[in-house]
Amino acid sequence: TENLLLFMIEPIQFLVYCTITYAMMIYSSVFLQAYLIYSSSVAAGAQSGIEECKYQFAWDRWNCPERALQLGLVKTWETAFVHAISSAGVMYTLTRNCSLGDFDNCGCDDTRNGQRGGTGWQWGGCSDNVGFGEAISKQFVDALETGQDARAAMNLHNNEAGRKAVKGTMQKTCKCHGVSGSCTTQTCWLQLPEFREVGNYLKEKYHRALKVYIVDLLRGAGNSAASRGAIAETFSSFSRKELVHLEDSPDYCLENRTLGLPGTEGRECLKKGKNLNKWEKRSCKRLCGECGLAVEERKAELVSSCNCKFHWCCAVKCEQCRKTVTKYFCVKKGGQRGKNESAGSRKKNLRLRKKH
Ligand SMILES: *[C@@H]1O[C@H](CO)[C@@H](O)[C@H](O)[C@H]1NC(C)=O
Ligand SMILES: *[C@@H]1O[C@H](CO)[C@@H](O)[C@H](O)[C@H]1NC(C)=O
Ligand SMILES: *[C@@H]1O[C@H](CO)[C@@H](O)[C@H](O)[C@H]1NC(C)=O
Repeated sequence: TENLLLFMIEPIQFLVYCTITYAMMIYSSVFLQAYLIYSSSVAAGAQSGIEECKYQFAWDRWNCPERALQLGLVKTWETAFVHAISSAGVMYTLTRNCSLGDFDNCGCDDTRNGQRGGTGWQWGGCSDNVGFGEAISKQFVDALETGQDARAAMNLHNNEAGRKAVKGTMQKTCKCHGVSGSCTTQTCWLQLPEFREVGNYLKEKYHRALKVYIVDLLRGAGNSAASRGAIAETFSSFSRKELVHLEDSPDYCLENRTLGLPGTEGRECLKKGKNLNKWEKRSCKRLCGECGLAVEERKAELVSSCNCKFHWCCAVKCEQCRKTVTKYFCVKKGGQRGKNESAGSRKKNLRLRKKH
């Protein structure tokens, strides 16, 4: 059931997976057609979901590592986020494609045009057709959950929360009408925000994800109708806007090969900088200090072109400017290094890099 996660790493793998899955449904030529039309958008959408995941978690202990996604052994807060952001990404991309006229059978959502929206405005213009994106995303992404256990229910719930996030972050845009722009009436439409907004919104939801307790008695009950019913009922008591998880997260400080987790040793963190937010400023503490690691300062020289001058005619001559940048990394305390990589060899690497 975790094959959903495959396509974030390799769109090609995803397509192969889909082909196999849907080969069973080929009886329905309607579905096959849909598959051929939308598969590239679905893959692109899933990829944008995983890129957003990496951005949102860049300075967290868990930073959306691909191997962990692939193994998919966990049912944690992070699994919840991954499902939500990828199903949101798929819906988002399909909706955008639709607005750009990439599909013959789909265009703006003008169903409400001409209706009164509120005081002083009515619906008009070209609203992004999220209904379309939602339906196709559901068809593709939810189809990957073939199980009927609590994990499948969790994944489906979070897929839905991701789609709700796209809807919930849409923005009303208006245009004024009236004598010489007096704006006595306006027409408004709904448009997709930047995908970053959806990511920010889901990251908030991630921090407040709710834990679902499935009564133990049911765990061993297999696929009986009674147990399926109880699972469905348990999940339906949670708002479909919220992310849910079944397990708590493991200690992301530590490497765990079974779970495909790299641990925080060797990670870069941020310390000083003009534009750092609170979360980034605390990253060395979070990734190194609180994980029992030390922070190592490494300096590297950046060489770039600068003070360029234009010479008549026609050449541009530049100087080479050198700038020392300081970077911070989490390392084992006391200079011992777990992977038996000495400080010396690392410094040498840095020195080599700056020469070339
Ligand atoms: C939809 O958009 C994505 C990303 O912009 C693009 O890669 C994909 O090819 C588009 N799909 C179609 C059918 O044009
Ligand atoms: C890795 O995680 C599994 C599952 O949570 C756990 O049983 C195992 O003890 C962990 N291994 C290490 C080395 O921490
Ligand atoms: C670390 O490397 C040195 C040689 O560079 C070797 O002698 C030593 O046995 C290695 N230690 C471990 C734990 O692998």
